[in-house]
Amino acid sequence: MTDFTNAKNPDVGSRPIRKAVFPVAGLGTRFLPATKAMPKEMLTVVDRPVIQHVVDEARAAGIEHFVFVTGRNKGVIEDHFDSQFELEHTLKNRGKMKELDALLADLPGPGQTSFTRQQAPLGLGHAVWCAREIVGDEPFALLLPDMLHHGPTPCLADMIEAHRAHGGNHIAVAPVPDDQTHQYGIVGVEDVKAKVSRITSMVEKPPKGTAPSNLHITGRYILEPGIFALLEKQERGAGGEIQLTDAMLELAKSRPFFATRFDGAIYDCGSKTGFLAANVAYAMDRPDIAPILREDIQKILAS
Ligand code: UTP
Repeated sequence: MTDFTNAKNPDVGSRPIRKAVFPVAGLGTRFLPATKAMPKEMLTVVDRPVIQHVVDEARAAGIEHFVFVTGRNKGVIEDHFDSQFELEHTLKNRGKMKELDALLADLPGPGQTSFTRQQAPLGLGHAVWCAREIVGDEPFALLLPDMLHHGPTPCLADMIEAHRAHGGNHIAVAPVPDDQTHQYGIVGVEDVKAKVSRITSMVEKPPKGTAPSNLHITGRYILEPGIFALLEKQERGAGGEIQLTDAMLELAKSRPFFATRFDGAIYDCGSKTGFLAANVAYAMDRPDIAPILREDIQKILAS
């Protein structure tokens, strides 16, 4: 068992987090048939693809380089983050400057994106390892693109702040009801109530009644580059996949891990109900949509 407390002191104020990795090579089997030809990351929450919401979060946190680990049938994600000359030209000719400005504002700058392929979906750990050459020898952010974090401040911004103060590795967490901990990756921490606390244990889907806390791993990480060497030699774990959690457990033997608590709502857009709930929540933030949608939902619920 990993003894997290043996991990060496962090190098506080270590290098800034400039790069973010977005693993988008999964098959999205929970969302079939919608994801047969369309990547689940391109399904829209209101009028923006899920992946755009997550890239927005990373940009708001100051990320400068966006690394996408893609797979078969995912080319449309690369197109989405590219300029579309014909479309931009047509919008300009038609005087639709508001729409054009909005499109251009969403575009990452030249040289700010990289795309690499995970040829076979061998698991999240393997997808992260595929980004090793592009990330290089520096700490980086990892955002699971199907997990939307909806709250007052961008989750990753809070984590980068915590990394600046503590160094080391960071995982975003949020509480779940005690009777649901067996469905999640769970961490034990020194102080369950603190915004940032040192992690003392980590377990994937603990059997009922054995979870070290009710704090689940929400899909946002800051990892030190040492994770790549551990992923490289890793055997397949649960489900026959190369698991990120196994490599993090290994890294935690020598390096500190911290949990940053996220206080907003989290929507798993890889599940149908999570995706539908995200659409309602994000639509309610929109003054142009919320009043009409509220009326429609009330009618549906009353019928
Ligand atoms: P998930 O397990 O939620 O994605 O992985 P999935 O495999 O696409 O979904 P289901 O269970 O079949 O419906 C979390 C994230 O990791 C990526 C996925 O694209 C998703 O964003 N991933 C997962 C990879 O990039 N490669 C993999 O081999 C596995």
